[in-house]
Amino acid sequence: MNVIEVKNLEKTYNDSEVQVHAVQGINLEIEEGEFTAIVGPSGCGKTTFLNMLGGLDQPSVGDIRIGDTLVHELKPSELIDFRLHNIGFVFQAYNLIPVLTAKENVEFIMQLQGRDKTERDKRAIDLLTEVGLGDRIDSRPSRLSGGQQQRVAVARALASKPKFVLADEPTANLDSKSTETLLDIMEKLNKEENITFIFSTHDMRVVNKARRVVTLEDGKIISDERK
Ligand SMILES: Nc1ncnc2c1ncn2[C@@H]1O[C@H](COP(=O)(O)OP(=O)(O)OP(=O)(O)O)[C@@H](O)[C@H]1O
Ligand SMILES: [Mg+2]
Repeated sequence: MNVIEVKNLEKTYNDSEVQVHAVQGINLEIEEGEFTAIVGPSGCGKTTFLNMLGGLDQPSVGDIRIGDTLVHELKPSELIDFRLHNIGFVFQAYNLIPVLTAKENVEFIMQLQGRDKTERDKRAIDLLTEVGLGDRIDSRPSRLSGGQQQRVAVARALASKPKFVLADEPTANLDSKSTETLLDIMEKLNKEENITFIFSTHDMRVVNKARRVVTLEDGKIISDERK
């Protein structure tokens, strides 16, 4: 059973002087538990596609179904709620809140979900320990390396117990050791918790770990291979 179904998805940006057709008719089905890389040259539409998939940006045309939910039909408030309970995001630039510690960054989403303090504390510490940062829970992002910040971002993405994690070039700023650590963590979560991962990347090491590789060019899928 496909948990994600994208039909005839298009995105045209009209807000610049030139019209940009960033996504031009994507059809894609993703099954539960897949570990999929979205690849392709800079500007091919990877970020635009992931943002629409996660409901961070509205499609110009097309349908997105995640589980039983038609994401493109949700009202803004419903969308926020849907994201909060179903999708974890990892961004290229980490997007951690600088004035909060690692633990507070991870707790933040659970606070939005209305979970109580004891549960938040425990889960934040468990997740940070799982990504190898159990001894850095009280550090602010500026005191952490890029790889450590990205691991906090992964812990934060998982805090809400999402079924899906969307990651936009999660290893873009990482050295090879940090990349390997992060990939190991993602693979483990994928296998042990059956979280469906969809990530964009330019990095061949990351592509090699993917079990499915979807290649975009000019906003269209030009190949889709399962290993
Ligand atoms: N907010 C925006 N307004 C106008 N054009 C945009 C906007 N965001 C992206 N674009 C354009 O849409 C196209 C796709 O961009 P997108 O960021 O999705 O590519 P990408 O595959 O993620 O590239 P990269 O690998 O460099 O991150 C590009 O031509 C880009 O310039
Ligand atoms: Mg991008």
